[in-house]
Amino acid sequence: MRYVVIGNPIAHSKSPQIHTAFAAQFALAPFSYERLLAPLEDFDGTVRSFVAAGGGGCNVTVPFKEAAYELASELTERAAAAGAVNTLVVRKDGSLLGDNTDGAGLVADLLRHRSLTGLRILVLGAGGAARGVLLPLATEQPASITLANRTASKALLLVDALSAKTSVPLQACGFAEIAGSFDVVINATSASLGGERIPLPPNVFAANALAYDMMYGKGETPFLAQAREAGVPLRVDGLGMLVGQAAEAFRLWTGHQPDVAPVLAEMRAGLAA
Ligand code: ATR
Repeated sequence: MRYVVIGNPIAHSKSPQIHTAFAAQFALAPFSYERLLAPLEDFDGTVRSFVAAGGGGCNVTVPFKEAAYELASELTERAAAAGAVNTLVVRKDGSLLGDNTDGAGLVADLLRHRSLTGLRILVLGAGGAARGVLLPLATEQPASITLANRTASKALLLVDALSAKTSVPLQACGFAEIAGSFDVVINATSASLGGERIPLPPNVFAANALAYDMMYGKGETPFLAQAREAGVPLRVDGLGMLVGQAAEAFRLWTGHQPDVAPVLAEMRAGLAA
C-alpha cells in the first residue's frame, strides 16, 4: 500500500524515514511512504489524485492541517476537538477519515518519562499545536491543566471551547499571570523558532518538574535552555512526539503497533550527526 506525507514545503520531512523503519518491523505487503508536495492552492486536488491512484492514507503537515480537517468526510473525536487533521485514512469506498495523532504522540512520549495522573500541567501557547494536545492530556487525569499564552484572550477562547469536554479543571491566563508551580511545563508556542525566550515567572517549575518542548533540533532548544537554567532536572524535546504521532498513524493504517524506541534512537543519532 502507498502512503505519503503532504505539505508545502515538504523536502525536509522526516516522516518517510520513520514510517519506513516502522514497516521494517513487520512483514508487510509492499509498503511505500513518500513526500508529496501540494501546491498551496490545491491541497484537495492533490489528495483526490492520490486517492484515485489507490493511495492508502496520508499524513498532513504545515500548512494543510486545517484544509485536511475540512476535506475529511468523517472526523475522530480528537480531530474534531483539535480543529485540525494530521492523518487521513482512505476507506474502501474512497471516503476519508480524518484523525489527529499529535496529542497521542505527545502523551505517549510524556508517559515514557512519567505518569501524568494527579500532576499540575502548564501548557504554553494557544495556537494549533496547543489546541491539538489539550484533550489527550486531560485523558490522563492530571490535577489541572493551565493554558498560558502571550495573548491571554486566545488562551481563554480555547479553554472556553474545550472545558465542557473534560472533567479536568482547565484554566487560562497570560504569561505574567501564571500563578503557582507546575510539575509538567509544555512549550507549544513557536517562540523557539525565532530563538526567543518565554517570559515566565521565576517559580513556574516545581521541584523535579518535567519541561517538554514540542520543538526539537540539533542542539538544545531555547525553551529547554531556559528550563535548564531554572534548575529543571528532566528536559525533553519534541522528537519523541514526532515519532509517537507517526506510530499512531501507522497503527491506524496497518493495524500494527510499532516499537517506537529503536526508531527514536535512530532519529536521535541522525540529528546529532
Ligand atoms: P502552531 O500551529 O504552531 O501552534 P500558531 O497557531 O501560529 O502556530 O500559534 C503560535 C503560538 O506561539 C501562539 O500561541 C503564539 O502566541 P500569540 O497567540 O500571542 O501570537 C505563540 N508565540 C509565537 N511567538 C512567540 C514568542 N516569541 N513568545 C511567546 N509566544 C509566542
